[in-house]
Amino acid sequence: FHVPKAVNEPVKSYAPNSAEKANVQAAYKEMWNSKIDVPLYIGSEEIRTGNTRNMTAPHDHKHIVGTYHLAEKTHIEKAIANALEAKTKWANLAWEQRAAIFLKAAELIAGPYRAKINAATMIAQSKNIYQAEIDASCELIDFLRYNVEFMTQIYNDQPKSDSLVWNRLEYRPLEGFVYAITPFNFTAIAANLPASAAMMGNVVIWKPSDSQVFSAKIIIDVFKEAGVPDGVINVVFGDAQMISDTIFSSRDFAGVHFTGSTHVFKDIWAKVGSNIHHYKTYPRIVGETGGKDFIVAHPSANVKQVATGIVRGAFEFQGQKCSAASRAYIPQSLWSEVKSQLIFDVKSLKMGSPEDFGNFITAVIHEGSFDKLAKYIDQAKADSDAEIIVGGNYDKSVGYFVEPTVIVTTNPKYTTMETELFGPVITIYVYEDTKWADTLILVDETSDYALTGAVFSQDRYAIEEATIALQNAAGNFYVNDKPTGAVVGMQPFGGARASGTNDKAGSALNLLRWVSPRTIKETF
Ligand code: ALA
Repeated sequence: FHVPKAVNEPVKSYAPNSAEKANVQAAYKEMWNSKIDVPLYIGSEEIRTGNTRNMTAPHDHKHIVGTYHLAEKTHIEKAIANALEAKTKWANLAWEQRAAIFLKAAELIAGPYRAKINAATMIAQSKNIYQAEIDASCELIDFLRYNVEFMTQIYNDQPKSDSLVWNRLEYRPLEGFVYAITPFNFTAIAANLPASAAMMGNVVIWKPSDSQVFSAKIIIDVFKEAGVPDGVINVVFGDAQMISDTIFSSRDFAGVHFTGSTHVFKDIWAKVGSNIHHYKTYPRIVGETGGKDFIVAHPSANVKQVATGIVRGAFEFQGQKCSAASRAYIPQSLWSEVKSQLIFDVKSLKMGSPEDFGNFITAVIHEGSFDKLAKYIDQAKADSDAEIIVGGNYDKSVGYFVEPTVIVTTNPKYTTMETELFGPVITIYVYEDTKWADTLILVDETSDYALTGAVFSQDRYAIEEATIALQNAAGNFYVNDKPTGAVVGMQPFGGARASGTNDKAGSALNLLRWVSPRTIKETF
C-alpha cells in the first residue's frame, strides 16, 4: 500500500476580518461558558466518579470553565482490564485500517475541530492564537500524518531473502499495554504520545495533565469520531502517584511514553526498576523531560538575529516550552547593541488575555509556576551579581501574569543560569570576546540538561567549533535560529542527558519504540 504523502499543515494567519479568526473567536466565546464536564473514558464507558476538580483559565483564574472526574484505584484496574481486552482485535487489525483512523483524525482537526481545539488550548492553557494554531492544529495534524508515513516505512522495511529462504520481520506491538503521561504545554504532544503507540497496534492508558483537560477532551472527541475503537485509548485523570503505582505494579505494563519533569521521569525509572522481576517483558521507557536551553552568540553574529532569537526563543508561550531559551551568552563587543534591541523588542510585547489576538504574552499555567517565577525574580532584584534590564513585574490578581524578564548576571553559574524555571525569564552572561572557546565549554558544563540550543554566527569556523564543542549539549541544535519550534518531519525532536531518552518525536525512531519485532525465517 502507498499511504497519502504527508504534508505539513499550513499555518493559518488569523488576520483581521478572516473567516478563521471569526471561527476561533466564536468557539472561544461559546466554550468559555460551556462548563464542560469531562468523565473518565474506560472501554466503552464514560465514568463520572463524582469526585471532581475544576478547570480554570490561567489568565482569569477565578473563572471555572468546567470540571473533570478523578479516578480511584479500581478505575485504573478497570482501564487496564479494558485495554487488554481490546488488544487482540486491535493488534490484529490490518495496519492500513489503523492508519486510516489516524489520517481521518488529522483531517477532522484540520477541518471541523480546528477552531474548537485552538480555542480550548487558548482558554485552559493560555496560548495566544498563533501558539495555539502551531501546536493544537498544525503540529498535531503533522504528527498524525507523518507518523502514518513512518509507520508504512517501518512495516515495509524487510530483511533480504533468497530463492531458498524467505526472511520476514513482523512488527508486533508490545506485549501488554502502554501508559502515556502527557504535559500541559503542548496539545500536540498530549495527543501524539497515546496516538503513536496506538498506531503501532498497542493499547494505551492515557493520563493527561490536569492543566490540559479541556483540549484533551477535544482530542478524545476527535479520536472517537475518527474510529479509534473502545478500549484502545483509555483516558484517566486523578492522583498521579496512585495511577502510576497501580499501573507500574501490573504484570502487563509494557511501556511508558512520557513528557514532563525530570524528577518525575527519574521516579518512573526507579519504580519500573523496583518492579522489574514482576513484568512479562522489559518495559520500554521513553521520555522527554526538562531543559536549560541555551543561545550562544559569536562576535560575528548578526545583532538583530540574536535579539529576535532571544525574544522568540525565550518568551513565546511565556517560556513554557521545554525547548525555550533560558540562558544566553553574548560577547562584550555586541552587548550594548543586543541590549538596546532586546529592551526595545521586549517592551513592544503586549501582555493580556489570549482572547485579544494582539497579545503576545498571556498568563503562566498556574499559581505554583507563578510563585516560583516571582521568587527567582525577587532574588535577582536582591542579588548583587544580577540585574533585571527589562521586565521583572508580576501580578496574579486576575490571571498568573509574569512580564517577560531579562536578567543579566556577572556570574556564569548564577542560579537562574542553571535552574530550569519554565517561564518567561532568560538570564544573560556577557563574555569577553577572546574567550569564545572557554565560553563553549561553559555552555556545555553549566547544565545537566541537553535538549535544545542555538549558536548565532556569521563565521563558518565558529559555527563548526560550536557544533563540535556542543555536540552533547543539545539533541536539537540550531544555527542562526531560535531553539524552539521543531517541525514534524523536518526537525525530529528530543534531547539526551537529563532531558530524556532522545527517542525523537516526529520520526520513525520514536515509532520503533512501540514495536517488538519478530523475525521469521522460512526455508523452502
Ligand atoms: N517541539 C517543541 C519545540 O521544538 C517542544 O519547541
